[in-house]
Amino acid sequence: MKKDYVLPSLNEARKRDKNRSEKLYFSLEEKYKDLGKDKKYYIITHGCQANQRDSETMAGILDSLGYEASADEKKADVIIINTCAVRQGAEEKVLGEIGALKRLKNENPDLIICLAGCMAQEEKSVALIMEKYRQVDIIFGTHNITSLPKLLYDVYNSKQRKVEVFSKMGEIVENVPVTRFMSHKAWVNIMYGCNKFCTYCIVPYTRGKERSRNKEDIISEVEELVKDGYKEVCLLGQNVNAYGKDLGIDYTFGNLLNDVAKTNIPRIRFMTSHPWDFDDSMIEAIRNNPNIMPYIHLPIQSGNTEILKKMNRRYSREEYFELFDKLKRELPGFAFTTDIIVGFPNESDEAFEDTLSAVDHCEYDNAFTFIYSKREGTPAALLEDDIERSVKEERLQRLNEKVAYYANKNNQRFRDQIVEVLVDGVSKRNSEVYSGYTPENKLVNFTGKDVKVGELVKVKITEVMSFSLNGEKIEE
Ligand code: SAH
Ligand code: SF4
Ligand code: F3S
Repeated sequence: MKKDYVLPSLNEARKRDKNRSEKLYFSLEEKYKDLGKDKKYYIITHGCQANQRDSETMAGILDSLGYEASADEKKADVIIINTCAVRQGAEEKVLGEIGALKRLKNENPDLIICLAGCMAQEEKSVALIMEKYRQVDIIFGTHNITSLPKLLYDVYNSKQRKVEVFSKMGEIVENVPVTRFMSHKAWVNIMYGCNKFCTYCIVPYTRGKERSRNKEDIISEVEELVKDGYKEVCLLGQNVNAYGKDLGIDYTFGNLLNDVAKTNIPRIRFMTSHPWDFDDSMIEAIRNNPNIMPYIHLPIQSGNTEILKKMNRRYSREEYFELFDKLKRELPGFAFTTDIIVGFPNESDEAFEDTLSAVDHCEYDNAFTFIYSKREGTPAALLEDDIERSVKEERLQRLNEKVAYYANKNNQRFRDQIVEVLVDGVSKRNSEVYSGYTPENKLVNFTGKDVKVGELVKVKITEVMSFSLNGEKIEE
């Protein structure tokens, strides 16, 4: 049977050129404006902060079409699953979820189910869903979010399933509506895509090429957030240190940090820093601006130079240590976290021991640890994955024990200290228990009265655990 849709192509998506990306402006066509009248939507988000922010864009678009957010997926007329493709486990979870939605679709045949995000960029996932998961009505990719009004309109009118996934380098689209899910912390994209092509990673294929937003657009977004009472921004990019390099101007991430700091937003964070191109102008900016939070996430992935080479990480064990030690020296009191993969193809016992000893060297505050997951279409997928599952699991467990040891050790310095916490929420179990984060990104659960989400409060730490702190709010 002839297909009436085009499958995405990871191979097409890996192309890169040196041209500056096009900048476009979103505008909503008149004919779509009442599409969502008396209808509700529900969005499920997987994956990283880039996806969280994309879901806020989808919500913004749906709100501008007259849809209303629903707290209950059973009451929704449109359900979007914004997916992640970074590991097999993430994909399996999504497939399970779509399977479970079949019942809702049977009960309400008018329900529209959409699949968005990084899985939509993979040909094998799209083929599978078109063939086996007929309850999905719309598939749209990471480059196609602004087509959502058109896709919904087409499905309402044609009753046909729609696929729109472009496998391209991508552009910058400004003026897109956004409905933020939090009123005190905001994600701010500073760049999209990735050009690093670490050999295990699918992200450069699902997100297009590295492209920076104009600094004016970023700064005015942050100024707007300050006016709206936001207390924290997190500047987002797969590799924020590369900010501006594609714009052909003499303006780096260090410059951007200084300019964002001038907006006087109380807290600035950024994610993620690749050790490659972490330059002195960044260190200087971080040190000189008290509203840049004392927390750095610096993924190491492996402590073994051979494996790092096979991962195409562009640094050796020694070069990572050199940067890490310099940051530790020049930024006292900062917390450091990392990402680590165990069980990369052909990782020997000795190579894994190098990862353990790297954790001993860096004494991280925390680490996000993963078992290597083969991603079809990436260079590492061609390597033989010859390590037994039980070995990978044992390595992960040993690594996690070490990570927990240093997390606990690092947290001891907070015992009996007074810390500033930006309040995120109230405990579901006890209305006098709240949670939030310190400047160092430490999770604090604390007791207090009449505390509000979005407040900055002072908390005395009474109990220290490996991955969180307990305390009491002190009255000033
Ligand atoms: N741009 C970020 C990472 C985004 S993905 C950076 O480079 O730091 C988040 C983490 O997922 C990565 O740091 C890596 O540790 C992990 N990861 C990515 N691909 C993976 C794979 N194929 N298998 C296991 N973990 C993976
Ligand atoms: Fe993936 Fe590497 Fe890019 Fe991070 S820097 S998104 S790990 S390719
Ligand atoms: Fe996942 Fe895509 Fe983010 S693969 S980690 S949602 S960029």
